[in-house]
Amino acid sequence: MKALETLPTRALYGIGEIDKLGDLARDLGFERTLVVSDPGIVAAGYFDRAVGLLRAAGVEATGFHDFTENPDSLTIETGRRFAAPLNVDSLVGLGGGSSMDCAKGINFLLTNGGRMEDYQGFGKASHPMLPMIAIPTTAGTGSDAQSYALISSTQTHIKMACGDPGAAFKIAVLDPELTRTQPLKVRASAGFDAISHVVETWVTTKRNAVSAEFSRKAAALLVGSFERVLENPDDVSANGDMLLGAFYAGAAIENSMLGAAHALANPLTARYGTEHGVAIAHMLPHVVRWNADVGEAEYADLAAALGLGGGRNRPGDILAGRLEGLAAAGGLATRLRDAGVGREDLASLASDASRQWTGQFNPRPLDVDGALEVYECAY
Ligand SMILES: [Fe+2]
Repeated sequence: MKALETLPTRALYGIGEIDKLGDLARDLGFERTLVVSDPGIVAAGYFDRAVGLLRAAGVEATGFHDFTENPDSLTIETGRRFAAPLNVDSLVGLGGGSSMDCAKGINFLLTNGGRMEDYQGFGKASHPMLPMIAIPTTAGTGSDAQSYALISSTQTHIKMACGDPGAAFKIAVLDPELTRTQPLKVRASAGFDAISHVVETWVTTKRNAVSAEFSRKAAALLVGSFERVLENPDDVSANGDMLLGAFYAGAAIENSMLGAAHALANPLTARYGTEHGVAIAHMLPHVVRWNADVGEAEYADLAAALGLGGGRNRPGDILAGRLEGLAAAGGLATRLRDAGVGREDLASLASDASRQWTGQFNPRPLDVDGALEVYECAY
């Protein structure tokens, strides 16, 4: 049953699906759960709504909110200490990627002990992990479809990918109503991140028939609705396409990993605190041009899937131009000099980028010299 192995998470999609949360939690055997959601989600009222639904179904629910974007290993340890005395049997990740990754991280430490650094890679948990439900409120990371948590090391600031079959959510509740209230900046950067997941998974060295299918579904949904939802954030159909597209793109990552744009963006986040999707926008068009000759056939396929014409130009150049247009629509800079990055920092950023795990799956091998070349192109 290969197909089932590729989708560890059951997705429920549609307006009002959130109302099933209590029943879903009961069906999974939840009795005492930890709801991990960032302070913005509490302010938006979604946390109270979720807890109300859980309590109405007889599930005890406690919130953990003591974290911000880009959770690091220290944040996860704080969450573990908070949750340990509660004796929870389950977790709910309610919010954007940080809430979902934070829930996964706390789950690792609660059930298997140690530090987040111990789980870098895949399959390091030796004890069963607690069942979890994801409720994304942004359309972006696709963490809801993946068995990996992205947690920054507090010491090295390197983004660690910590994966395990037990870290996959049992159920993802994809309710487009919940993404309507995303602030415009979040909507733009998270949406562009999801698009980057399509572009990167399309060409990785690990791509395969399964990942390609998810990438293709995601491409049509995301690129077709990104500008629409920026123009009209209340467009329920466009919100739904973005949410489902981000989930499919996450499923593509689960099956094919990512590439150089993520390896080059992560040091920008670590060094300057640049939001992930914003850092991705700085890098992605330049990575596509840098990969253009190696990934020519694949980029031609993607450009065709997106209905892009470009005459005799290289498919990678055509695609990069479209990506720059999408970034501009979201108000996202695609040049490092416009993002406050000093030229003198590029060499050390390149050194950091070359050590990022995800760079090894890029179709054109990314070493220090290659990373510096792309940063120079992006400047
Ligand atoms: Fe990403």
